[in-house]
Amino acid sequence: MDTLSEQALLAVQDLSKVYPNGYEALSNVSFSVQAGEFICIIGRSGAGKSTLLRCINGLVPISQGSIRVQGTNVASLSDNQKMLLRRKIGFIFQEFNLVGRLSVFQNVLTGRLGYVNDLQALFGYFGREHREKALSCLQRVNMSHRANYRADNLSGGEKQRVAIARALAQEPLILLADEPVASLDPELSWSVMGDLRKVAKEEGVPTLVNIHDMETARHFADRIIGIAGGQILFDGTPDQLDSATLREIYRNELVETTSRYA
Ligand SMILES: Nc1ncnc2c1ncn2[C@@H]1O[C@H](COP(=O)(O)OP(=O)(O)OP(=O)(O)O)[C@@H](O)[C@H]1O
Ligand SMILES: [Mg+2]
Repeated sequence: MDTLSEQALLAVQDLSKVYPNGYEALSNVSFSVQAGEFICIIGRSGAGKSTLLRCINGLVPISQGSIRVQGTNVASLSDNQKMLLRRKIGFIFQEFNLVGRLSVFQNVLTGRLGYVNDLQALFGYFGREHREKALSCLQRVNMSHRANYRADNLSGGEKQRVAIARALAQEPLILLADEPVASLDPELSWSVMGDLRKVAKEEGVPTLVNIHDMETARHFADRIIGIAGGQILFDGTPDQLDSATLREIYRNELVETTSRYA
């Protein structure tokens, strides 16, 4: 391993993922992430973007290679240590995944579950420092005025801001977001991406965002990773991403789109 990946907060090395039905969704994927980077992962539908994020936070087991967080190989951890690590990885979903019947504030408090004991968690008891932390996270995304709203009464953009606040409340080592703005209209999606980038940068939390739309990726990313057929085809700055590479990343999709309108 080179020095850069040894110092990395996250280092993915020769990662392959074969699903139980034999389908290889990722093949020999390697990259490392340094503190503070805001990275967009682009690729056509089925390229392997969600699989990659699920492997990183341990939602699916990997088949080959390694994932290191702060230099520690995740595979070497006990189940308990893996659970503790997962609590330090913020995950933001396309469909927000808030608990609709709970208030906005209670949803953000669930981000603090990793910081209270089991009994406190069971009874939903969060001491003052946790409530203050939750409130400050809501303030970061300008949602404190909705603290007492039921989560299911919020608009889509508001829900995603609350989900960002909940992830921040975890005090994450790293943030993973799987198509966080795909359910929002274009204007709102830029505003929510702007918020995500702003808080990630302010907190210095490295962030990986799966995103289908290349223009959004270009606008917000420090670095873009392009995946096709489970392999990395491009890893560089938005400026380095030329149209030939883009065509390769989105190849079949562009062909499909063209033939549909031909
Ligand atoms: N549990 C599974 N078993 C078998 N194959 C799977 C499973 N989950 C995903 N796949 C396949 O792995 C490939 C990658 O899927 P993945 O969800 O990672 O793609 P994606 O890039 O996130 O696509 P999208 O942009 O549509 O969300 C796809 O071909 C998918 O059908
Ligand atoms: Mg996906």
